[in-house]
Amino acid sequence: MTLLLPLIRQQSLQCSKISKMETTILLSNSENSIKSASEMIKNGEVVGIPTETVYGLGADALNPQAVKKIFAAKGRPADNPLIVHIYDIEQIKLLAHDIPELFYTLAESFWPGPLTMIVPKNDTVPDETSGGLDTVGIRMPAHPVMRELIRLSCPIAAPSANRSGYPSPTAAKHVLNDMNGRISAVIDGGESRFGVESTVIAFDDEKTVRILRPGSVTKEMLSEYAENVIIDEAILNDLAEGRNAPSPGMKYRHYSPKADVVIVEGDFHAFAAYAGSIKCDGLYCLVFDEDDTKLLNSEFMTYGSDSMEQAHSLFARLRELDEKNAKKVLVRAPKKDGVGLAVYNRLLRAAGFEVIRV
Ligand code: TXA
Ligand code: MG
Repeated sequence: MTLLLPLIRQQSLQCSKISKMETTILLSNSENSIKSASEMIKNGEVVGIPTETVYGLGADALNPQAVKKIFAAKGRPADNPLIVHIYDIEQIKLLAHDIPELFYTLAESFWPGPLTMIVPKNDTVPDETSGGLDTVGIRMPAHPVMRELIRLSCPIAAPSANRSGYPSPTAAKHVLNDMNGRISAVIDGGESRFGVESTVIAFDDEKTVRILRPGSVTKEMLSEYAENVIIDEAILNDLAEGRNAPSPGMKYRHYSPKADVVIVEGDFHAFAAYAGSIKCDGLYCLVFDEDDTKLLNSEFMTYGSDSMEQAHSLFARLRELDEKNAKKVLVRAPKKDGVGLAVYNRLLRAAGFEVIRV
């Protein structure tokens, strides 16, 4: 008996180690769960966290070893920097310097919320977090779970919680699909309110903002505070050959489901006629709620009516299309102003910039 005991203990230890590696814990959004998640983050682990834009993969932004685990879990190229999420404006001084006055004006207007601003980084931010750049993207998120986690732990580096190249997750189940066994836990905070990632901006000068990624803080909204707002050319066009990406994320194909996605410009009748002319197994149409889907001969899904609804549901639809084994997806082109620009930008990338006019 005494001889057997150490053996049993050893086995049960091995079991708990294996089960921890093989599964990711799904946590509720209770106070206790958030406390446990904050302990994990302080211990250098990676946790899936709800935000108002999309779910993020969070780790201690100032701990290089923890940040490396994010890159490993996502399969993300090491030169693609992470956004650092803060709890209050005081944390800026720790992270960045030479901050333009306009940064504070925009922070006052849009934080907490879906806006990321790029500024020169301090040495406190490790190169692992900034992808080797001397700048850092900073965002103060609005989701109460994310805010509480940062308050209880530290500034949190968090990219979207998808495997690199896949659509961003807007629900905890999407994170589990991509990350089960690769991260310690996911907190279920419900569906992400906006559904597209934050607007990312840089400052060309004191009065000029450059949008590097469109989001729910729109060009129109920024123009109320900044004299000049430039939409970077890489938002609507494939990165020109030889041009250095102003944001490393622009270099990589993004948001792609497995199916071949094509954006179709034109009215619904022309769209339906075009879709009817295509002979292809696994053809799906992704159209607007109000479209007369009786005119479609193929399978279809809808992704909302206005731009806000489309932003909210786009990534979830792209994931559902994968689950249904769609081979080719024809998408009704969204509007290109306001939040529509963010929807169109994500679709362009999902489609590898393939747009046809009917
Ligand atoms: O809404 C969001 O922004 C979500 C949530 C979790 O906050 N996060 C997110 O992170 O979308 P990520 O890593 O998936 O996208 C961040 C984008 C990348 O394209 C990255 O290249 C760019 O922002 N970025 C980050 N820091 C940058 C920097 N210092 N300079 C230029 N681009 C930067
Ligand atoms: Mg991402």
